[in-house]
Amino acid sequence: MRRRVHFHPAARLRGELEPPPDKSISHRAALLGAMSEEPVPIHNYLDAADTNSTLNALRTVGVAVERRPDAVIVRGGGLRAVEPAGEAIDVGNSGTLMRLLPGWLAGQEGDDCRWTLDGDESIRRRPVDRIAEPLGMMGARVEAREGRFPPFTVYGARLNALDYELPVASAQVKSCILIAGLLAHGEVAVTEPTPSRDHTERLLARAGVGIERRGPRVAVTNVDELELDHVTVPGDLSSAAFLLAAGVLVPGSRLLLHNVGVNWTRAGFVRILQRMGAVVLGDLEPPPTGPDIRAEEPVSDLDLRAGPLVGTVVEPDEVPLTIDELPLVALLGCFAEGETVVHGAAELRLKESDRIAAVVEGLRGLGAEIEATEDGFAVTGTGGLEGGTIDSGGDHRLAMLGAVAGLASRLGVTVEGMDAAAVSYPLFLEHIGTLA
Ligand code: S3P
Repeated sequence: MRRRVHFHPAARLRGELEPPPDKSISHRAALLGAMSEEPVPIHNYLDAADTNSTLNALRTVGVAVERRPDAVIVRGGGLRAVEPAGEAIDVGNSGTLMRLLPGWLAGQEGDDCRWTLDGDESIRRRPVDRIAEPLGMMGARVEAREGRFPPFTVYGARLNALDYELPVASAQVKSCILIAGLLAHGEVAVTEPTPSRDHTERLLARAGVGIERRGPRVAVTNVDELELDHVTVPGDLSSAAFLLAAGVLVPGSRLLLHNVGVNWTRAGFVRILQRMGAVVLGDLEPPPTGPDIRAEEPVSDLDLRAGPLVGTVVEPDEVPLTIDELPLVALLGCFAEGETVVHGAAELRLKESDRIAAVVEGLRGLGAEIEATEDGFAVTGTGGLEGGTIDSGGDHRLAMLGAVAGLASRLGVTVEGMDAAAVSYPLFLEHIGTLA
């Protein structure tokens, strides 16, 4: 059911809270937990539509999942214990599930080792050829609609070694290949054009996998079992980003966000905010200095207040480090002095919606001066936004973008399809309510 919600301009936002658990890390904890021999308790697992799709998908292939008050317990039977599914595996709206799970399925050997994956309308528009190619090179087969779209079927096989150069930085594709590498006969390596989020590498290192990084190349060798004793998921910086943006844009605001994951490969948005002149205090993880894979996920409180912003340029190598927050950079640009430009973000066209077109159209409808480019956008700051109506088109991050725009606007914003926020942040309205 599509829900329409009006967001009045806020006088100021004040208070403290903990953002929801990290979506990317929750997906990975559930998948690697399912591949482990022993049951794995996951504390602070995200209870949202996307990550529930992962738990349901795992149940479909024979993994027992138990929700306890303090943890989700995932009980799989090890790396090679994937059961045939009687029906298509439903990934819902989740691109991460759609791209990571096939890595595990591809390494299963046997006559009945084939699984079909399908999802919602948005998922059916998102390409899977980027995982089909490397998995095919390893010896598995992926048959997709029109060669590249869901529904698609993964045929498991004995997997070979691979040394793969990613054409576009993508943590999802990198993770799919590394997961398949756990089952391959020989070394499997991925080279990224620029760094992307490294949660899979960190979790694999914690699970006792031999994983090595040399510059942009990460390699794994196959293992007999994963040893993951438990996982505690930090707060999601991508969800916190909506609160950060609201706190920076609504005059007189002061927010304290607790337990936010500040992994360097995820915290690009905070660095951009700081560069635009915002006061955001926190203990951010420094960039990596050596080849070692850091096994822990760092967390910090973030303390911020509203203030004036100046425009900035986001360069291509920064894009993967803040990919899901770029719509918010466009919003900040509307309030900043001068121009804000994002380059090298063509990937945005392949997200839950075409996020270049949707952001440009949506913010223009609220009074923004913004132009789309082939691989990003350019915004001219005009000191704020009037307001109006924005349609999420079913994209969770567009819905929350509209909400923040409304709080910071002069006249308020109506969001059509606010229910989409449940994909990653079901408590979003409640949290905004406690701060307003
Ligand atoms: C994700 C990686 C990103 C991001 C997505 C989650 C992940 O996608 O946009 O929301 O959990 O690995 P790409 O890696 O395809 O850029």
